[in-house]
Amino acid sequence: MDWKTRFKDKVLSPEEAIRRVVRPGDIIGGAMTCGFPQVLPEAIVRLAEELSGITIMHGIVVGNAPHYAPHLSKHIKLRNIFVFDATREAVKEGRAEYVPMYFYEMPECWRKGIWKTDVTMMQVSPPDVDGYMSLGVTVGYTPAMMEVSRAVLAEVNPNMPRTHGETLIHVSQVDYLVEGDRPVPTIPRSEPDEVSQAIGRHVAELIEDGSTLQIGIGAIPDAILSCLTGHKDLGLHTEMFSDGAMDLLKKGVITNARKSYMPYKSVVTFLLGSEELYEYVRENPSVVLLPVEKVAHPMVIAQNDKMVAINSALQVDLYGQVNAETIGTLQYSGVGGQVDFVRGAALSKGGKSVIALPSTAANGTISRIVPYLDYGSVVTTSRCDVHYVATEYGVADLKGKSVRERAEALVSIAHPKFRDELAKAIP
Ligand code: COA
Repeated sequence: MDWKTRFKDKVLSPEEAIRRVVRPGDIIGGAMTCGFPQVLPEAIVRLAEELSGITIMHGIVVGNAPHYAPHLSKHIKLRNIFVFDATREAVKEGRAEYVPMYFYEMPECWRKGIWKTDVTMMQVSPPDVDGYMSLGVTVGYTPAMMEVSRAVLAEVNPNMPRTHGETLIHVSQVDYLVEGDRPVPTIPRSEPDEVSQAIGRHVAELIEDGSTLQIGIGAIPDAILSCLTGHKDLGLHTEMFSDGAMDLLKKGVITNARKSYMPYKSVVTFLLGSEELYEYVRENPSVVLLPVEKVAHPMVIAQNDKMVAINSALQVDLYGQVNAETIGTLQYSGVGGQVDFVRGAALSKGGKSVIALPSTAANGTISRIVPYLDYGSVVTTSRCDVHYVATEYGVADLKGKSVRERAEALVSIAHPKFRDELAKAIP
């Protein structure tokens, strides 16, 4: 008997499921990345006029975000906890609000009532014979959001792989099931170029065999992984698991054998990458997906000895303040787990964090090392938290340095054509 027949009382069309549970003024919370449903938001859009005054809130959405169409602004309020391609324009135009928050703290925001969600919606794998569905490639904050919601809607997608860790949701925990069959969203692999390879080679020198890695989002952290093929017995404890990490697992460079916390397991809260990556993790007991507070809490991260956190940035000023989120007043991305892992690595025995970025942006016309952050920019990682900063010209170790010393170290890894100008601004 298939799952639709077994759970037929719970299976509804997307429109019917939404009409049954959503009330005027409700806040609908969506799972992030590949956990974000696909047919449910389209149904919400079709019903937008009758669902008066709802709010939709979520982290990264990959692929389509139909609820972000400009004409829906008068019906749907939007709250975004990590700005990405599909949502950036709306945040820029003021049609969506950005909510800054450390990744590890998000579940607590729901549990303490700082954030409210009336209805949770997410994408899951079909139920097994016992009625358990898997959250698949995204756990993140979904369990906490479900806990506080009045109702839960699950979009059952046979393309969502079943995964290991704390990923199981029983059918009794959801109010209604809707059918979906879209491909799980993918993102293209970033092809390493000369600059990212040079950055990778510098960062590789900082990483000792047996270290445990966190790999942040963006082109550079993934490119760095391709420079680690000569390393031995690396471990993985990271919020995001990408294609680059899979390559190192397949090559036997990441073995997790020398991890001090959860050895022999790759510990992650979500995966984002290619179809090959999602197949790799299907029913793979060596990859453990946990709720974000059990992965990205600095005290959990710190239990990994030799923890190395690798993240990127848009700008670093001469004080060592890291902006990973804004281009001037434009909210380009989000905080995510950057600060969680920078701090967790600082607390780890033998731990270190690296902010790795190209020295320039906009085809080499502007320096990313700047005297002061641009007007309207924010500080993601503070100058007291930052440790190593790496560009294609080398590595600056800022920990414990004076204001002048750190500025000098940063000028030395800026693009040579900007160094004289930057040197004049050394405080
Ligand atoms: N001024 C103007 N434009 C800039 C700029 C600057 N200082 N720095 C970057 N840009 C432009 C780039 O030229 C690029 O434009 P393009 O798309 O037209 O080429 C665009 O902004 C994106 O920059 P890039 O550095 O290529 O981004 P990325 O995809 O490698 O991601 C971050 C880098 C910082 C945005 C990414 O790491 C991020 O979102 N971090 C958030 C915090 C974090 O690290 N969390 C941990 C993981 S959840």
